[in-house]
Amino acid sequence: MISELFSLKDRVAVVTGAAGLLGRMHCEALAGAGADVIVTDLKEDECDKLASELSSKFGRRCSGKFCDVTSVDSLGSLKHFIENSYGRLDILVNNAALNDSVENSSGSPEHLRFENYPYELWMRSLNVNLTGVFLCSQILGQFMLKNKKGNIINIASTYGIVAPDQSIYLKPDGERKFYKSPVYPVSKAAVIMFTKYLASYWGKENIRVNSLSPGGVENFQEDFFIKNYSMKTPLGRMSYPNEYIGALIFLASDASSYMTGANLVIDGGWSIW
Ligand SMILES: NC(=O)c1ccc[n+]([C@@H]2O[C@H](COP(=O)([O-])OP(=O)(O)OC[C@H]3O[C@@H](n4cnc5c(N)ncnc54)[C@H](O)[C@@H]3O)[C@@H](O)[C@H]2O)c1
Repeated sequence: MISELFSLKDRVAVVTGAAGLLGRMHCEALAGAGADVIVTDLKEDECDKLASELSSKFGRRCSGKFCDVTSVDSLGSLKHFIENSYGRLDILVNNAALNDSVENSSGSPEHLRFENYPYELWMRSLNVNLTGVFLCSQILGQFMLKNKKGNIINIASTYGIVAPDQSIYLKPDGERKFYKSPVYPVSKAAVIMFTKYLASYWGKENIRVNSLSPGGVENFQEDFFIKNYSMKTPLGRMSYPNEYIGALIFLASDASSYMTGANLVIDGGWSIW
């Protein structure tokens, strides 16, 4: 049965960065497919709220939990919680990241030029986007090693495959609003390689590791940017936040049982030309 192939009934999943734009979608999709979801983020209240909404909506046992993916202690206490409350972990979605974006930037973009880009921002983003994926996989992957079964999905980006085109941040009158940072694409490229490393390393342990690379999500950006982005996309638009859930459930379920080390690109064609 096709629905069984995609079912996550009775599996236990963790999503990091779950209070964000896409993290919420991942949690809803996983719970909707039958998983018990542990909703984790720095924003504990939002995690609790989302977990209780998902529990009522889908009748699953969902929990909200604080987790800083850069902290070994924080991950240790999440592991302890999972051990005591669920006793297993089947799916880990490494979604937390710092993603500098045109919609969240203000003031002059001069300080974002590569020549001025602050070392502190470089280190902070590498720590969350890359070291966080390493730590979560190492610490929470222990459940999977024990069970000889597991599934890790790392959220990367099209900017892990192709370089940012800085011209899309120019307004029609030539005014520059933003520079995409050097650290975001570099961290996402590294996540794609880490995915391959771990898929190879844990293949014999029956733990699959894949990455999912979304394209840009429309999220109240200024019209000029949406237009510039859309012109560079074969499908002629940015994505909606819910356009990754099908791919996520595919990767998380037995529908992708022979897939590991792959990078599933869902970007409206952005990276093909
Ligand atoms: N939105 C996009 O256009 C887009 C495109 C491609 C890829 N992505 C990727 O998708 C994922 C989700 O993006 P989003 O748009 O939902 O981002 P978002 O900024 O809305 O959410 C990110 C979440 O991560 C959390 N977070 C930050 N630091 C953390 C830490 N140290 N520990 C735990 N949580 C932490 C934040 O609190 C936030 O809730 C990211 O990996 C991002 O790089 C997003």
